[in-house]
Amino acid sequence: MPDILTKSRMSGGALSQYCAQEQAESPERFDRLGSRTMLKFSVLNERRIFMKSTMAIVAATLLAAAPAFAESHAAETATEGDATAETMEMELTVTGDVAKGEKAFKKCVSCHVVANEAGETLAGKKAKTGPNLYGIAGATAGSVEGFKYSKLQMAAAEAGVVFTEEVFAAFVQDPSKSMAEATGESGRSKMSFKVRKPEEAIDLFAYLASLK
Ligand code: HEC
Repeated sequence: MPDILTKSRMSGGALSQYCAQEQAESPERFDRLGSRTMLKFSVLNERRIFMKSTMAIVAATLLAAAPAFAESHAAETATEGDATAETMEMELTVTGDVAKGEKAFKKCVSCHVVANEAGETLAGKKAKTGPNLYGIAGATAGSVEGFKYSKLQMAAAEAGVVFTEEVFAAFVQDPSKSMAEATGESGRSKMSFKVRKPEEAIDLFAYLASLK
């Protein structure tokens, strides 16, 4: 098994493959770390190909995550596994205003809910037209299990598009265009809503990132 530093230098594709292998060989450890964490990690790596402008963030994230991740492998404790996820999320750039984002989120609740793994609703009510937006900051596009995404959003998932502030802001202002550009695929997003103001998009990201 390669050590974490080797892993973090793998290409996104190789890392995804490693994750799949890891899942097959030791499903218990994989489950504890959480498939989302593993997916995030692999995708953060792949991201270098997609968003050159966020390279610095990615590098910092991987460097910060690597020791914690290696430790969690050595110590085999759930808490350290969780700390890994935390570290990666904290490295995201968030510049918006949480309170303004909360107000703006009223526009989203007709289609989206924010509900955590424990099933607690943190924002919205029960809307199911769009996917649950819990943990969207730093998550891979199209990664909510059980949600029936458009082909375009699935292509974004496959391409490893990650919702950094920049990607999120572009997405909510024009879902179809942003995902088509990020993937090189044509197609339409299932999300018909568009946020008009760039600042509002940034504030929405800050609000969603604040919901833990
Ligand atoms: C009319 C319903 C509707 C509204 C209003 C709406 N969305 Fe969506 N949203 C969707 C649907 C449907 C999708 C799935 C897109 C797809 O599969 O192509 C989606 C997807 C998303 C995603 C991608 C999630 C993922 O897992 O890839 C984000 C982020 C998002 N919406 C944010 C927002 C925000 C923020 C607002 C409010 C400003 C909002 N949406 C308003 C319907 C909506």
